[in-house]
Order: sequence, then C-alpha cells, then structure tokens
Amino acid sequence: MKFDTPATTNPIDQLKVIGKPTDRIDGPHKTSGTAHYAYEHHEEPKGKPAYGVIVGAGIAKGKISSIDMAAAQKAPGVLAIVTAANAGKLGKGKMNTAKLLAGPDVQHYHQAVAVVVAETFEQATSAAAMVKVHYAPEKGRYDLAHAKAAKPEIKADKKKPDSKVGDFAGAFASAPVTLDVSYSTPDQSHAMMEPHASIAQWEGDKLTIWTANQMIAWGVGDVAKTLNVPKENVRLMSPYIGGGFGGKLFVRADALMAALGAKAANRPVKVVLQRPLIMNNTTHRPATIQRIRIGASRDYKITAIGHESWSGDLEGGSPEEAVAQTRLLYAGANRMTAMRLAVLDLPEGNAMRAPGEAPGLMALEIAMDEMAEKLKIDPIEFRVINDTKVDPEKRERRFSQRQLVECMRIGADKFGWSARKAAPGQVRDGRWLVGIGMAAAFRNNLTMKSGARVKLGADGVVTVETDMTDIGTGSYTIIAQTAAEMMGVPLSQVRVRLGDSSFPVSSGSGGQWGANSSTAGVYAACVKLREQVAQKLGMPLDAAFTDGNVSGAGKTASLRSAAAGGELLAEDFMEYGDLDKKYQQSTFGAHFVEVGVDMATGETRIRRMLAVCAAGRILNPKSARSQVIGAMTMGAGAALMEELVVDHRKGFFVNHDLAGYEVPVHADIPHQDVIFLDETDPISSPMKAKGVGELGICGVAAAIANAVYNATGVRVREYPITLDKLLKDMPAYV
Ligand code: MOS
Repeated sequence: MKFDTPATTNPIDQLKVIGKPTDRIDGPHKTSGTAHYAYEHHEEPKGKPAYGVIVGAGIAKGKISSIDMAAAQKAPGVLAIVTAANAGKLGKGKMNTAKLLAGPDVQHYHQAVAVVVAETFEQATSAAAMVKVHYAPEKGRYDLAHAKAAKPEIKADKKKPDSKVGDFAGAFASAPVTLDVSYSTPDQSHAMMEPHASIAQWEGDKLTIWTANQMIAWGVGDVAKTLNVPKENVRLMSPYIGGGFGGKLFVRADALMAALGAKAANRPVKVVLQRPLIMNNTTHRPATIQRIRIGASRDYKITAIGHESWSGDLEGGSPEEAVAQTRLLYAGANRMTAMRLAVLDLPEGNAMRAPGEAPGLMALEIAMDEMAEKLKIDPIEFRVINDTKVDPEKRERRFSQRQLVECMRIGADKFGWSARKAAPGQVRDGRWLVGIGMAAAFRNNLTMKSGARVKLGADGVVTVETDMTDIGTGSYTIIAQTAAEMMGVPLSQVRVRLGDSSFPVSSGSGGQWGANSSTAGVYAACVKLREQVAQKLGMPLDAAFTDGNVSGAGKTASLRSAAAGGELLAEDFMEYGDLDKKYQQSTFGAHFVEVGVDMATGETRIRRMLAVCAAGRILNPKSARSQVIGAMTMGAGAALMEELVVDHRKGFFVNHDLAGYEVPVHADIPHQDVIFLDETDPISSPMKAKGVGELGICGVAAAIANAVYNATGVRVREYPITLDKLLKDMPAYV
C-alpha cells in the first residue's frame, strides 16, 4: 500500500483501542522474567552454548605486531581463539562491520582484537586475560578543540552541504542586537541497561543469531556481507531488547565475534560485551563545538541566524548534525548553517537518541534564552514572535502540523511561568537558589517503509508477525492495538510476534520513526485481511468490523467464521510517496524545568519538570508518556552529569563503566509531568501519528541550563553543568 495523499477517515479513527492508555502486553513477561533477552535464549540453541570473551585493543591507533596466545590456548576449557589472522577475510558491511575486528591495523581503543571461546564464562574470561597482544602504536588525533583550532577549514561533508539563505553576514553585521557565542557538548554513551549480547549458532552454512538489535533487516544484510554468506542463510532474532538509544542500530562486535567463535568452536557461542568494554568498543554520541550567531531588530524579530557545528569521527565517518533544527525552527530571512568534520581516532561516533537535534538544541535553546535577555523580552514571547508556519529555507513548503506556540503557552500556564523573575538570582528557598527555565523542543518526523503479516485463526485470534523490534518503547502493545482496532476484536484476541528476520521487513526502531511506521505497516496488512474476510463472508469490501463481528449489506457474521475453513493470512507493507517533500513533517514541544542550586556548593537539584508535546495522534498515552519521561531523564543526564572524558594522550574514553559515567537515578528526578496536545496529522500516515520518543529529550538540557542561569546568574556553555563550572563564576550569595 502506498501512502501519498493525506489520510481520510479510516477504522483507526474509531479510537476504541488506539489512543487508550493501555498497559504493556509484554509487561507480565518482563516482570516475571519470561521475556528472553539476547543472552537468555537457553532453550533454543542446539546444544549448550560455549562462552566467548572479547579482548579489546589496548591502543587507539597503530598496528598489532604479534599476539601470543600460547598460554591462553592451554588454559582450562578453552575451545578456540579467533583473531583477524585466522578469521578469514571479512567483507565490508554497510556500517563498515569489517572494522569490528582489528588486525593488523587498530582503528580505535577497545576495538576487538580476539574472542576467546571456552566452556564457561569464567574460563573464557581468565584465558582472555592471558592473551598477550604486542602493538606498534602510532600517533593519533584525539582532541576536537585542537583539530578545530589547528584546521578551522576542516572540510564539510560532501553529503551534508552548508545551507545559505539571503545574506547572513550582511544582516548580522547590521543588526542592532546581536549574539555570537560558542557552546560545547561532550561525547556521550547510550548506557542502555542491557549490554550488547549475542548467541550465534551455525547449522552447516546457515547462521542463526539471537541478538539485541534495533534494525533486524539491516543486521541481516551486514552479517551476510561481513561473513560473505548469502542473506538467505542468516537469521536474526531479537524479540526483546533492553534499551538501544541508537547504540543497537547496527551489528556490533558481540554478534560478529559470536558468529566467528561459533564457527571456530563448532558450537553455539554466546558473547556479551562486558560493561567496561562498551563505551570504547561500540558507538557513541560525538562531542560538538557549536557557534551560534543571532541578529535581531529592536522589535524582537530575528533577521540573521547562523549555526556552525564541529564534530569528529573516524576516517570516512559523518558529522553530528547539530545544525538540523536551526534550519527549521525559527523565522529569519538571512540564515546559514555549516558542519565541519575532523578526523579523530576515537571510537566511532554515531546515532544516539535524537542525533543532531538533541545536541543541537542544547546549544540553540541556550542561545535563544541569551538573546531574549539581551533584547529584554520574555524568552517565550521571543520564540512566539519568531515562530514560522513555513520551512524558513523553502518558504513554499508548509509544516504538516506545527503547534510549537500552543505547547509553550499551555506549558507556561501549567508550570506557573508567570511567577518567573526575569533577573537571575532572585529566588531563594533556604540554602537553595531557585530558578525556572524553558526550551522549545523540535524533532523531525521520518516515515519508513514497513511490512507485516496478519493471520486470522478459526479461534478468532489475530496474529501479527513483523521483524519490528520493541526496545522498551511499547511496540508490542501499539501493534496489538492497531490490529485490534482494524479487525474489531478486543486486545486479548491479538497475538504479536516481533524481531525475527523470517517475518516481513519492518521499519525497525530508530529515529522515532518506529511507532508510526510499524503500525502503518500493520494497518496495510489488516486492510488486506479485512478484504479477504469480507470476500469469504460474501460481504461488501466496506463491511464494518466491530466487537468480533463483521456486518454489511444487512447481514452480520462472526469474524472467526471467516476462518472456519482454514486460517486466513494477509501480508502487505506501507510505503510512502512524496508527501514529505510537499510538507515538512516535524514534532514540537516545550520543556519547563525548575531547579535549585546550592548557593555554597553549586550542587544542582532538579525540582520539577514538564514536557508539552505535539506529535500527532498518540497511539498509547501510557507508553508514550513513559517514552517522554525516560527521554526527559536522559536530557537531565546530558545537562548535569553525562560526559565521556577523553584521554587526549592515549585516545580513549577514561570513564568507561557505569561507576565513572554517571547517568541520572530516581533520586535525581523528583517530579515529571507530560502533556500531549490533542493532535492528528493526516500527512504522516493512516495512523495520523508521529514519533515522540526522541522529541522528549530535545531541548531538555537547555531548559535545565536556562533554569540554572535563572537561579544563579551563571551561564555555563560547556556541558555538563557541573559544580566546578558553576562555582567558578558564582556570585557571592553566602
Ligand atoms: Mo535512534 S538514535 O535512531 O535509535
């Protein structure tokens, strides 16, 4: 089915199941331990899996000169050791998966050098420590600020050209009020709860991998290419995933090394990336340095807006697209954005929750607060004045929906914004300096082709199969809701099976496209199944499906009777035409935060948070709310604690475990509220839904930074906002 004209009324609009705050159907499995994560498929492999433990590179750049494996090979229980020397030639997958195994070249620290396979995890761990790797290190490049200073002209990415509208330089030079500031955001790690893990099993030349992967079809393609086997011979299964945040979009070393280890040991092999390996071995959100220039007239209108971002990546990598939102968020006739990419020999930079917008808004939304202060206008009013209903670069293109102003107005009202003191450092609560801040939220809405198969059994049970993943987001539940709504049955009559590459290819989970795209695919398959049912029952194609019955042309029959003669099966996918070219599709929101900052120690405590989101139809307000409060929590981490600290001499992230890399805990997040605007977007899909999981993080860190400024009068432009940075400039309040 192709979606290329705006959605009209369809069975989803009944909202009997869709739009209800439904409990997760997978919740009982998760709470009772019967939802099997990648490392826990104890029953399925043929024979007891052996354990693989990865040896990570001890240098960031250079060559492996030799590997002494004699002691490890003789260690108890050892079955095989795989290195680049005996792995066979690896193909280059889409995500450069050949680089998952180092040798002889080392491209980054903790890149896999070997996997040691043994009978037990303890034996493999012990033997892995006996592998002696000798290196010939080379000088690497590890410092983004240094790269930027040394070579300010570092080339723009060819695929991501600069954007220019009007005369930015002229308009900025002649603007009566201007701001020209730089911000920095650090490298960050996904820090999802479930580590990367895989169990691989070969049967002849057929490979099965139980793994934790957000994008099953991409994964199959990359495994096949890397191991030089036909795609048909690879099966990936990932029914439950304990968080991904972009870190599991691609096949990583656990899957590849498990497959290589299983081949060498002639046994199923399971590999988990030990937590201290994850931060340097896998991908991370790259650090940025961002310069923002805004020029405005005395009547608060932006006349010039410019945003440049510098980031780094391995040779052949991509920039962090931190300027993305600045091209679309505010009006202004003269504009420019540019991204510059330095080659750094740090671990690979890649997508992490709301890549681009999340770090981009961390800078832009402080800049808007700073500019409002310069103009002596309320920060919300400043944003309202500079709202736009059209894409400010391509003015003929409208947003399909844009309720940014409504989000800010409603949020201001609910949060008590009118009590805010414009001058900082005015409000105290005992030893706490109290401040409130806000930021706009913006994230684009992407649609992806997505397929599904739906079956109707003689027992009236509807079964949905798709390779869609549930990374903790609630995919199982919204897919069940979609099928229930379409087929007119209660939720209890629907079974959902996900994350198996033998099922139809879905959108997968990423870029907040999963909910809308995957359910639209289920919608398409259900439309086909409805037609089959109607035909079987001799009813018109527009028959109504309600309460387990089908009715049309004056008669009614039970749905299950259509399958009395045998199961009915329909498969289809939803693909998209060029509606996204005619309309700009984005999601909007506003974040509000109140903080207290200890006037003596600079300790920051978040006191309350509110997010208001306009993101199309909310398919399940309960799971959507969970997504948003999780994202707000991640935004709090970005503002106040998260930072992978780079060792500029040796080229690795120093704090590479959860003791050193701090993420928020419950005690850091006292109170969060989420409001969804009642919105449907007929341009997005027949579901009229959009993504919301990444919108929730977009702007949060800046709202916190703005609240900290409002509390203290200290403007920290280098994330995270830690005590030392606050104390350095804190006025003498005590
Ligand atoms: Mo998302 S960073 O595309 O999982």
